[in-house]
Amino acid sequence: MLHILFLFSLLLLSSSPSTSNALDFCVADLSAAEGPAGFPCKAAANVTADDFVFTGIAKAGNTTNIISAAVSPAFVGQFPGLNGLGISIARLDLAPGGVIPIHTHPAASELLVVTHGHLLAGFISSSSNKVYIKKVNKGEIMIFPQGLLHFQINAGKNAATAFVSFGSPNPGLQILDFALFANDFPSKLVETVTFLDDAQVKKLKGVLGGTG
Ligand SMILES: *[C@@H]1O[C@H](CO)[C@@H](O)[C@H](O)[C@H]1NC(C)=O
Ligand SMILES: *[C@@H]1O[C@H](CO)[C@@H](O)[C@H](O)[C@H]1NC(C)=O
Repeated sequence: MLHILFLFSLLLLSSSPSTSNALDFCVADLSAAEGPAGFPCKAAANVTADDFVFTGIAKAGNTTNIISAAVSPAFVGQFPGLNGLGISIARLDLAPGGVIPIHTHPAASELLVVTHGHLLAGFISSSSNKVYIKKVNKGEIMIFPQGLLHFQINAGKNAATAFVSFGSPNPGLQILDFALFANDFPSKLVETVTFLDDAQVKKLKGVLGGTG
């Protein structure tokens, strides 16, 4: 009986028009342009096991910087094997006092796993600007819904590490302060649209390398 069912389902599969993509994988050809569905595939004959392994997040990122923290992404741009698979990951390293400044990933929800130390993490809803903040310890996880502004802070005395996975091979990353103060957005306009004063805007542009 099972045998007959199996044959029947095989027949169904082979006779139905290909409505779903039966490709096992589509390692990105990063030399081509990315479309809404991702990058075109590298030739299957040229795909090797190395295309499915990424070693770039094995080591801690360099936290000697203004935020005392490092984000090491394994998105499709760094790890072409993720193309079309709907997933990606990044490593967060935070020195004592380290901060991942408030930011958003336009294309994906995020799942954070703390593997070392303690973080204080939070996000802000778009519907009511309600703030959800929680201390997340080693082994615990927290989720950040797609597109919402969120942050992570080292809440311990020692270094902290976390891994964040995403429901997209290319979740995107926009850091609010960098968007406002690390470019040539004219200061006067920044002040008008944020209601911040001139001294504060100039100070942050100075710190983050912005002009205008
Ligand atoms: C595989 O890679 C080689 C060397 O880069 C290239 O010459 C060849 O055209 C590739 N094969 C296919 C099918 O694209
Ligand atoms: C970390 O970054 C700082 C600042 O750019 C640099 O001076 C230092 O050499 C880097 N450390 C390592 C181990 O790469």
